[in-house]
Amino acid sequence: MLIISHATQVICVGSGSLWRRGPDMRQLESIPDGAVVISDDIIQWVGPTSDLPPIPADAEVIDANGKVVLPGFIDSHTHLIFAGTRQDEFEQRLQGKTYEEIAAGGGGINATVQQVRRASKEELKAATRGRLQRLLSFGATTVEIKSGYGLTLADELKCLHVISELNQECPWELVPTFLGAHAVPPEFGSDREGYVRLLLDEMLPEVSRCRLAEFCDVFCERGAFSLEESERILKKAGELGLRAKVHADELSPLGGAELAVRMRAVSADHLLSITDAGIEALARSDTVATLLPGTAFFLGLPYAPARRLIEAGVPVALASDCNPGTCPTENLPLIGSLACTQMKMLPAEVVTALTLNAAAALNRSDRLGSIEAGKQADLIVCDVADYRQIFYYFGVGHVWRVIKRGRVVYAA
Ligand code: NIG
Ligand code: FE
Repeated sequence: MLIISHATQVICVGSGSLWRRGPDMRQLESIPDGAVVISDDIIQWVGPTSDLPPIPADAEVIDANGKVVLPGFIDSHTHLIFAGTRQDEFEQRLQGKTYEEIAAGGGGINATVQQVRRASKEELKAATRGRLQRLLSFGATTVEIKSGYGLTLADELKCLHVISELNQECPWELVPTFLGAHAVPPEFGSDREGYVRLLLDEMLPEVSRCRLAEFCDVFCERGAFSLEESERILKKAGELGLRAKVHADELSPLGGAELAVRMRAVSADHLLSITDAGIEALARSDTVATLLPGTAFFLGLPYAPARRLIEAGVPVALASDCNPGTCPTENLPLIGSLACTQMKMLPAEVVTALTLNAAAALNRSDRLGSIEAGKQADLIVCDVADYRQIFYYFGVGHVWRVIKRGRVVYAA
């Protein structure tokens, strides 16, 4: 048994709901001088320390005096499996080139694809393991990882196998997403349909047969995949048992949010250019809007309309988008700080967006994302006396302990 006692605040986030929308996103349920009782991998009890049930002599006790306990953060959108870096493009953008211009010239996603194809499984695994360790040190206990830098059947499978193997060996929980529809690889030249057919006829069936992915994502964008191509891919994925996620309305307002709703996607992600119609469609659905403000920051683009989404009643999640092109960072609390200062989200909304709503974006909020009896014991203890400091005192690490499935897996 593991007991955390005397926490200055235990931030429970939500009880009994699978996500939070609108004004509920800022109702955090905070317990002062709080305690949590964990046995095996499950939260058994949460409440004020003064009401703690009798503690067995052999229980491990963590004194969290002066500290804040929260649900483990969930990074529900990453492209963590890649090789190489793209600081040359970073510099080109600083001198005025756009992300799309660089991609059209052979850089961008396809630059990383070349490096991933050359990398061995062991090299990819070692690089990704390092990134996961950094994510863990910033409080992420569950991490979604997309493929999408292989773009041949063999290279996509190589990446998905790396995710599966890392999931076995490590303290974190990984959620694999197939993103073969990330870019049309150069060997297809202008034969877009040829690549779409490869996705539909070979890659998706094999990924599904090997049970290597839970979700299928599509980069629905000018220069990537059209609305119609995206719909065909997501439909086929659905038939094969993979639920949809969509890179939607990132650089241009193609209608990706509406597509996500039509496909009953778990999430529509990015949304920098979402239209009013897209916001309305999301508000009437159960699709989570996943915002990635690190990407807008890094590309120097206007941020997604977080306030309008929240006020319309859309459940909003936040994630890192960690990738070598548009957001090279594992610092999730910094993403939270950007959400506050650039999108005017309140710290309480940010916590909900990084926990319960992020769990919903991975279809796991029945088990993860809040501190409630019966949920999996994934918690973080931060060395701050008020949860708002995690985002206020920005860019540094506040995480003191990470508990995954009831075990301490990281100590600062
Ligand atoms: O989420 N938008 C597509 N994919 C990534 C960028 C990938 C890259 O540039 O390597 C994103 O921003
Ligand atoms: Fe992304």
